[in-house]
Amino acid sequence: MYMSTDEIRRAYLAFFESKGHQIVDSSSLVPANDPTLLFTNAGMNQFKDTFLGLEKRNYTRATSAQRCVRAGGKHNDLENVGFTARHHTFFEMLGNFSFGDYFKHDAIGYAWEFLTKELKLAEDRLVVTIYESDDEAFEIWNKEIGIPADRIVRIGDNKGAPFASDNFWQMGDTGPCGPCSEIFYDHGDHIWGGRPGTPEEDGDRFIEIWNNVFMQFNRQADGTMEPLPKPSVDTGMGIERIAAIMQGVHSNYEIDIFKTLIKEAAAVIGYDDLSNQSLRVVADHIRSCAYLIADGVMPSNEGRGYVLRRIIRRAVRHGNKLGAQGVFFYKLVGPLAEIMGSAGEDLKAQQELVEKVLKIEEDNFSRTLDRGLTILNEALDNIDGNVLDGETVFKLYDTYGFPADLTNDVARERGFSIDEDGFETAMAAQRQRARDAGNFGVDYNDVIKVDAETTFCGYSATDGEGVIVALYRDGNAVDTINAGEDALVVLSNTPFYAESGGQCGDSGLLTAEGVVFNVADTQKFGAASGHKGQLVEGSLTVGQQLTAAVDSERRQAISSNHSATHLMHAALRTILGDHVGQKGSLVKADSLRFDFSNLEAVKPEQLRAVENMVNEQIRANHSIDTNIMDIDTAKANGAMALFGEKYDDEVRVLSMGDFSTELCGGVHATRTGDIGLFKILSESGIAAGIRRIEAVTGAGAIAAMHTEDMMLAKTARLVKSDVASVVSKVDALVTHSKQLEKEIQQLKDKLAAQEGAGLINQVQEINGVKVLIAKLDGADNKALRGMVDELKNQLGSGVVLLGNVSEGKVGLIAGVTKDLIGKVKAGELVNLVALQVGGKGGGRPDMAQAGGTDAAALPAALETVAPWLADKL
Ligand code: ALA
Repeated sequence: MYMSTDEIRRAYLAFFESKGHQIVDSSSLVPANDPTLLFTNAGMNQFKDTFLGLEKRNYTRATSAQRCVRAGGKHNDLENVGFTARHHTFFEMLGNFSFGDYFKHDAIGYAWEFLTKELKLAEDRLVVTIYESDDEAFEIWNKEIGIPADRIVRIGDNKGAPFASDNFWQMGDTGPCGPCSEIFYDHGDHIWGGRPGTPEEDGDRFIEIWNNVFMQFNRQADGTMEPLPKPSVDTGMGIERIAAIMQGVHSNYEIDIFKTLIKEAAAVIGYDDLSNQSLRVVADHIRSCAYLIADGVMPSNEGRGYVLRRIIRRAVRHGNKLGAQGVFFYKLVGPLAEIMGSAGEDLKAQQELVEKVLKIEEDNFSRTLDRGLTILNEALDNIDGNVLDGETVFKLYDTYGFPADLTNDVARERGFSIDEDGFETAMAAQRQRARDAGNFGVDYNDVIKVDAETTFCGYSATDGEGVIVALYRDGNAVDTINAGEDALVVLSNTPFYAESGGQCGDSGLLTAEGVVFNVADTQKFGAASGHKGQLVEGSLTVGQQLTAAVDSERRQAISSNHSATHLMHAALRTILGDHVGQKGSLVKADSLRFDFSNLEAVKPEQLRAVENMVNEQIRANHSIDTNIMDIDTAKANGAMALFGEKYDDEVRVLSMGDFSTELCGGVHATRTGDIGLFKILSESGIAAGIRRIEAVTGAGAIAAMHTEDMMLAKTARLVKSDVASVVSKVDALVTHSKQLEKEIQQLKDKLAAQEGAGLINQVQEINGVKVLIAKLDGADNKALRGMVDELKNQLGSGVVLLGNVSEGKVGLIAGVTKDLIGKVKAGELVNLVALQVGGKGGGRPDMAQAGGTDAAALPAALETVAPWLADKL
């Protein structure tokens, strides 16, 4: 029974919906609030806190088609892509989840029903594995489902450590995990490979299609397994693998999605042989690259952005290998969004941006290729010996994306080779650095987990009462805190805003009779707000009631900055266009920062227009209104939502007149007029396609203007002018100084020419060739080049070597006219002298420069030149 990938996706979600599961959208590839994960790598990621019991949802069963990237980090398939039938950087995982609801019995039952009844797979093609000691799973498969014992394979800790097993699934080094039971499909004996657990298991005959994880533990950094609050289920089925089966093909690269992408890739590259492996690589990579960018990752030199950049370059290089002319990769975004069916919608919404970012990155890469070539040629000009060192080869690879084999080709043409071992050593060090970076170095269990909820009462008030529900000292829960100690206080109710959505946390005081706790910051811990600070007086005990008072002046400044951020967001969209999307923001008391997608720098006149527009809205003094409504109504009302962000069903909509409507959980001014004044301080690029604006409001804006006024007044004083005429005065000074520089240069050139003319009298002949060896004192080292050029001109044919002592240092320069470079190379000549005066040098065959430190040795060194030349000429 043929099914398209899109049909399989829909059938899977519908099947589990009919079993009482809530269909949940795929989350972003950038995991929300999880520093331990590089990219979303499994369907369960977005439910991690739900498994741990930290996040409550209003359903206990869920199903999703989750986009995943496995490149970098714990699960990394990048190197395998293109070379096996089933590895991808990007794939979709179909999954069903139970949060303390059903367990092994139903998980196994549903999987079997879907595969054999809905998809009608032949039962005898399926083989299952279980964790070695999991007799319960064995019984279910054997007795209830009726799988013969010889098709149930037990797999133990086959990777050398406790729980290191193909049948014990772990999201990362820490976090939720448990034994699992996998289902394999037998593609038939015409394909090489053996059952799981046999020596031939790595072959392509038996392919794992479904993994049922029986989530039972939360793994700690020291390896101990803490039981989860309730046994749960996490499953995953790679959609590409099941599509291969349903479409009667063996390789994932032959399914509908890849057939289309490979054809499109061949067309844009201009290459005919559809079976070429490089086309597979390109077809695979466009999926991860396009979705990563759509989910907000931008190419860069670190973290997620660096992984994205490497994937893009790998794709472009494979395209170039097939002879691609000009940029081609971005052209695959449109066909991809189309062929992804219902999973293509999120991509379509961002298509224009994704294409532009890819195009810019491809363009830049071509430019770095050119620059890499220039640098390589220079390195070869100055080479010591005839092997190019591994560090340089690595630098070309790493900084200019220059493949080592290309470096080798260029070097060989010029008679050099490259140090491959040195390159490999540098690469190994780089891999280690990448591994360290992939791990992010954060233990999920280090993050304090608070099993309590705090009610926030601070939207309209800055004072309130709350009861202490938990206390933490040094990350550990305690019952009491004493004066002088730093602590984290969790209250049942608080007016303190805990940092989120870019708005910083509140500070202030928690007090009671004889008790003062100074709050420096407020942070979120799950559904709880933690007040971080120091107990100045008295003691704190769980259960105690406290009065909470936010520093209201600071809060007001934060609120104004937050409201101004919304106004600026709307103004940017009006002035620059609707492609402007928020990519990050930071709202503090003294300033605000807003990152947004826009491909070019914002022009000064556009910035002024934005500033004017925001100030107009401030003067209009709109009331700032909040309404709670359901997410669909909010979107229908045109509220701006952040792409990829997780919202509750009920959302808070913030509006300022007709000018701005945004979903927002933060605190704001009452009227736009409260903001007072808005002033942009700077605009800059922080990554390809992402700009950042920093601005200030109210008293901060006035202070910024005063600072500028003072700087202007000071400048006027320095140039002996007044503020009104400072511009023309500075302009005149700059013109004057340029004129002076020009005159000085002319004088220097004249001087050099005169010295050069004097030197011509010292010319001698060696074997009939005109040779000039001279020592100068105090000449300008920069002028030496001009002098040698002049002397070479005058000689017509000859060799020049000048040694100059200036401020105790030796400067050497050699020139050889073109007709003689077959006999004498300037680089060798200059080096001959340099080595005798404590230096080293090199350069082109016709002109080379060097320095030295031993001025006293120069005369004797110059004596050696004539005999040396006599040998050569
Ligand atoms: N989370 C499990 C996996 O990725 C289902 O295999």
